[in-house]
Amino acid sequence: MTEKILVTGGAGYIGSHTAIKLIEAGYQIVIADDLSNASPRAIDAIAEITGTKPEFVEINLTDNAAVGQLFSEHTFAAVIHFAGFKAVGESVQLPLKYYRNNLDSTINLLQAMEAHGVKDFVFSSSATVYGVPSEIPLKETSNIGAVNPYGKTKEMIESICFDLASSDASWNISLLRYFNPVGAHPSGKIGEDPTGIPNNLVPFVMQVAVGRRDSVQIFGGDWDTSDGTGVRDYIHVEDLAEGHLKALEHLKPGCSAYNLGTGQGYSVLEVVAAASKASGVEIPHEIVARRSGDIATSLADPTLANAALDWKAEKNLLEMMQDSWRWQSSNPNGFS
Ligand code: WQD
Repeated sequence: MTEKILVTGGAGYIGSHTAIKLIEAGYQIVIADDLSNASPRAIDAIAEITGTKPEFVEINLTDNAAVGQLFSEHTFAAVIHFAGFKAVGESVQLPLKYYRNNLDSTINLLQAMEAHGVKDFVFSSSATVYGVPSEIPLKETSNIGAVNPYGKTKEMIESICFDLASSDASWNISLLRYFNPVGAHPSGKIGEDPTGIPNNLVPFVMQVAVGRRDSVQIFGGDWDTSDGTGVRDYIHVEDLAEGHLKALEHLKPGCSAYNLGTGQGYSVLEVVAAASKASGVEIPHEIVARRSGDIATSLADPTLANAALDWKAEKNLLEMMQDSWRWQSSNPNGFS
């Protein structure tokens, strides 16, 4: 019998790319999403790309009764949990919104899983749990200490998962700590589609390249890095999606955290140059003041994930920018 996987937040950026990989691997999936930060057109695109239209349930996971209903209507083999608010800046302004949404939805989900004997769980965590890096590159054993409410919700959910696994040996949990996801499916039919002004670098750069915005503001040119601009471990969303499939297939008893990164850092100026090469257009940019809360460098040591998940990120920065550009240039206004 085909295993059925619940993909919460599966209409979103990373969720939709992972949904495609799951379908292509032969899984049956149910996407649960409240569409607060995603378009239903992503579901249509998944159908176009895979030839299979996934079942979609519009649901707010903070509604406990609705979550219970979902689990009474389906027999899931596992859950991959992407759903959650994820804007760092907004989380600082509206912490209660983030704690309520991200924690309640996850606890509702885990309680429904427990009640229905579903114990395979892959969680969308984040390198943000490391806060200000205690060492570079970051290992899964590096100090944890999120410094914003968004990151703290991820850290708290990780703690809940570790405690759950300690209380009941039947849980098989993987916590995937993403570094900086960028890029898009090679078809150009799905990609990152932030609402409003993009907080993240690459969608902003692509909106400048396609003419929606005037210039990239580079937050600080005096960081302690090769060229003075911030360095991050950018990972192609296709590699990241593959990492979820591998995490699902390599679930083991207990609760394990994995860094999903490449181990290769790139500066803001290197990203802008690669985006210009991929798009064939000059991308105006200017160095301005640092953004509060930023750090100079974030970099993964991915060796544990490489070994334990039999997974390794393959795509380079130019491929990330080429795929981002194909999505952006084919869909200048995203899904809207
Ligand atoms: C990357 C680099 C900026 C925008 C965030 C979240 C993290 C995760 C990934 C969810 C930095 C610089 C950016 C711009 C710029 N999200 N920059 N101009 O901050 O590393 O991580 O997204 O899990 O939780 O914190 O990503 O893309 O915002 O910034 O110069 O307009 O680009 O200073 O050096 P970040 P980012």
